[in-house]
Amino acid sequence: MNSGTLPSEAFPAGAPTTSAVVGMIGGGQLARMTHQAAIGLGIELVVLTADGNDPAIRAGARHHPGHPDDIEALIGLAERCDVVTLDHELVPNAHLRALVAAGYAVRPGPEALRLAQDKAFARRALGDAGFAVPAFAEVARGDVAAVDRFAKRCGWPLVLKSSTGGYDGRGVEVIRDQTALQSSALARSADPWLIEEHVPIAHELAVLVARRPSGWWAAYPVIETTQHDGICRELVMPADVPPEVSDRVTALAISIANGLDTTGVLAVEFFVATDGRVLVNELATRPHNSGHATIEATVTSQFENHLRAVLDWPLGDTRLCSPAAAMVNLIGGDEPIDPGRLAVALQEPAVHAHLYGKTFSRGRKLGHLTALASNSADALALARSAARSLVVR
Ligand SMILES: Nc1ncnc2c1ncn2[C@@H]1O[C@H](COP(=O)(O)OP(=O)(O)O)[C@@H](O)[C@H]1O
Ligand SMILES: [Mg+2]
Repeated sequence: MNSGTLPSEAFPAGAPTTSAVVGMIGGGQLARMTHQAAIGLGIELVVLTADGNDPAIRAGARHHPGHPDDIEALIGLAERCDVVTLDHELVPNAHLRALVAAGYAVRPGPEALRLAQDKAFARRALGDAGFAVPAFAEVARGDVAAVDRFAKRCGWPLVLKSSTGGYDGRGVEVIRDQTALQSSALARSADPWLIEEHVPIAHELAVLVARRPSGWWAAYPVIETTQHDGICRELVMPADVPPEVSDRVTALAISIANGLDTTGVLAVEFFVATDGRVLVNELATRPHNSGHATIEATVTSQFENHLRAVLDWPLGDTRLCSPAAAMVNLIGGDEPIDPGRLAVALQEPAVHAHLYGKTFSRGRKLGHLTALASNSADALALARSAARSLVVR
């Protein structure tokens, strides 16, 4: 045998080259980028979605056709896999509890997932556990007197949210006064109403913590995100905030992950208010848009660590491998984006592209660009300029 050559019996003829089979509910861009990470690890990703054109399926992940509301489809997926995880939260929690009761591994578990599925439940649970959250109240739909009482305490404007089903700012509305409440479409559909103080935000931060069922965890450097109309547009990593703020949010995110016993990636969104308060906004128990820059900017991406974590494998290094990174989301808007111009965007060697293979629609996340640089301002300028070069004028 030559030195450096593996003995042929290490890969016996006909043996499967799959290290593990992971089922993912939902086939969007998060599943697509998880599949990308799965390939290198020899993991087969099986995606449950009704739509065979979803981004992950287009990228070659195995398709388990079905709807996340269909318990039979979920059982069929779980039968094929070592562990079931999720790319979105729009799955009945009772179905996941039934899978767990039947002995299948579901990670994150249904209890932790409920905090990402139900904003009012999360506010209560985090508040009860002693974490600072925005002032909030749960109000039956149409109870304008209760809204008035809340506004007397916290002032107008306030923020109205749908507890469940919202994402990318859909299900979140700033309400200036009672008249605006009367004409709000969200007020007509959301039930109950989750109403919150309108926090004067100085920074929106996110901390990702990958955590294994055995309790080992790894936290990523703090990320600062920028939202317009509730949808994430840009982020920089590491966040440009004083070290005491970074240390504080990191410690909070780790204690939330441990306290809730999460598995996989947990993303904790924070508001740093202009009055200095550090408040927990939202939890996501899966890879998250705020972590997309980790693909190039950290030693191990959030997608790879999500897979490792749900399989209870050792976690990869979460440290930055560039001083700074920035990401710009490519979102369907007034100005159409032409993927055919990507070669122009890539003229800058520090820019990396991820297109999700989706058709254009307004407000839809179509891809993202990440740039690495020696500081966050330069990284952001590079990513923005690359994004502009894709726009058709
Ligand atoms: N109480 C609040 N005060 C001020 N801004 C808020 C408040 N709640 C949400 N927002 C803004 O709306 C965005 C989306 O709200 P969020 O609750 O995170 O819902 P989503 O599930 O759509 O991400 C936040 O990132 C933030 O910019
Ligand atoms: Mg959010």
